[in-house]
Amino acid sequence: MPEANEHNGRLYIETVGCQMNMLDSELVVAALRQDGYQLIDNPRDADTILFNTCSVREHAEHKIYSALGRLKYSKQNRPQRVIGVMGCMAQKDQDLIFNRAPHVDLVVGTGQLAEIPQMIRAARASEKRDHQKAVSLSRKAGSRLEVADSFQSYDPLRDPEMRPTPFQAFVRIMIGCDKFCTYCVVPATRGPEQSRAPSHIMKEVRVLADQGVREVTLLGQTVNSYRHTENGQLYRLSDLMYLIDQVEGIERIRFVTSFPKDMTDDLLQAVRDIPKAVKYLHVPAQSGCNEVLKRMKRGYTVGDYREMMDRIQAAMPRCSVSSDFIVGFCGESEESYQKSMDLIRDCRFKNSFIFKYSKRDGTRAFEMFEDDIPEDVKRRRNNEMLDLQNAISAEDNAQFIGSSVSVLVEGPSKAALKSGRDSTASDSSLAQQLMGRSECDRIVVFQGNPRLVGSTVDVSVSDCTSTTLIGEIVTAEIQHGPSGLLPVIS
Ligand code: 5AD
Ligand code: SF4
Repeated sequence: MPEANEHNGRLYIETVGCQMNMLDSELVVAALRQDGYQLIDNPRDADTILFNTCSVREHAEHKIYSALGRLKYSKQNRPQRVIGVMGCMAQKDQDLIFNRAPHVDLVVGTGQLAEIPQMIRAARASEKRDHQKAVSLSRKAGSRLEVADSFQSYDPLRDPEMRPTPFQAFVRIMIGCDKFCTYCVVPATRGPEQSRAPSHIMKEVRVLADQGVREVTLLGQTVNSYRHTENGQLYRLSDLMYLIDQVEGIERIRFVTSFPKDMTDDLLQAVRDIPKAVKYLHVPAQSGCNEVLKRMKRGYTVGDYREMMDRIQAAMPRCSVSSDFIVGFCGESEESYQKSMDLIRDCRFKNSFIFKYSKRDGTRAFEMFEDDIPEDVKRRRNNEMLDLQNAISAEDNAQFIGSSVSVLVEGPSKAALKSGRDSTASDSSLAQQLMGRSECDRIVVFQGNPRLVGSTVDVSVSDCTSTTLIGEIVTAEIQHGPSGLLPVIS
């Protein structure tokens, strides 16, 4: 018997942050749907509102506290409504959330997501609306084993309807992080690094393949640190890739995010040798200056990073690499910053995610260093770095013009969605602008029949921007048509 019904089961969820959060939200919503909840996209009509939160930068937290503030009065008019905060901010701020927003009913850390259905029920049943809190131990509150045990990986069975597209899925292969970069809250909010058993991962991948999934993206905060011993055998990420390669139906395997020091040759060889492996690596450098890297406690030098890039290039000359950079970290001189710019110039990343340093309570940088770079300097460095990266991306994308790329079609392009031309049944016979990704993770847009979504097509590239390749379909037939759909010639 479902727990929720049409009178109390309308659920709205807002998700910010990384792909791990997107997966967590997908799984929580799937579990609640089994309990009778119905997902809606307007918070105004919701009986339950959940925020899946991010603590990596202060700005993301401010936005959530503002959104919670706006709900205060609506809660007075609708006392039955349940409001919950889940994810990294819940683990980090805990009771502070109830103090700042007493109308919040639930605070649920990243390690307790399985408890959400029962916690919503308890909140609704409690006449005095007692606060419900479930969080993990802080990293210093017990032995490593005790702390790790308090962070439970949440991997229930998958609901195909809850994925953004039916043929793509995230698969968590590990949780937590043990790198303790001095600026980062993740080791505190997601707990100790723990790799899932290969047998569990493989079971999940097979279920997904049976549900029609063609592309899996393996997730971990430092995904290439994956290590798990099962039945006396050690499995690394490369071993896992070979196992997934054998799963029928899976055509593409990706993984994010990699840690530079753990980019071992066995993994590069696996990416090179497995045709299903997407030739794309996301390996954040964070800085191009050794002193800054040392203060960040990244555990490598710029020389190590460049050597890793050389190994990637030697193994796979056509592999795309993207990076993350933090500008304005404590003590980052103009000279240090210019060294990051040099690294971008030399490595020619496919793209870089660039962030202004945001000091985070509870991190070592917060305790040890002064946040001494003025906001306007951070902003200027951020903008200049973006301009440099965009110029490089545009130049490198232009090299694709005149060649053909293999694209897994994901859906209507953003422009098509904006103009309201979604891929509905009624217009499925018309060509519209579609988007997908190439084998080296470049976004490609082209005119095509919406029924191509989920299939792999060849696209001849005729134009580009810094973020997108633009082209025309050259494939005369679907290479791998989704089951149940007619092959379409567009
Ligand atoms: N300030 C700014 N950026 C940060 N990141 C992590 N912590 C911080 C912080 N305190 C960035 C890093 C990381 C990405 C996910 O977020 O570049 O790779
Ligand atoms: Fe944060 Fe560093 Fe771990 Fe990445 S590797 S999640 S930046 S502590």
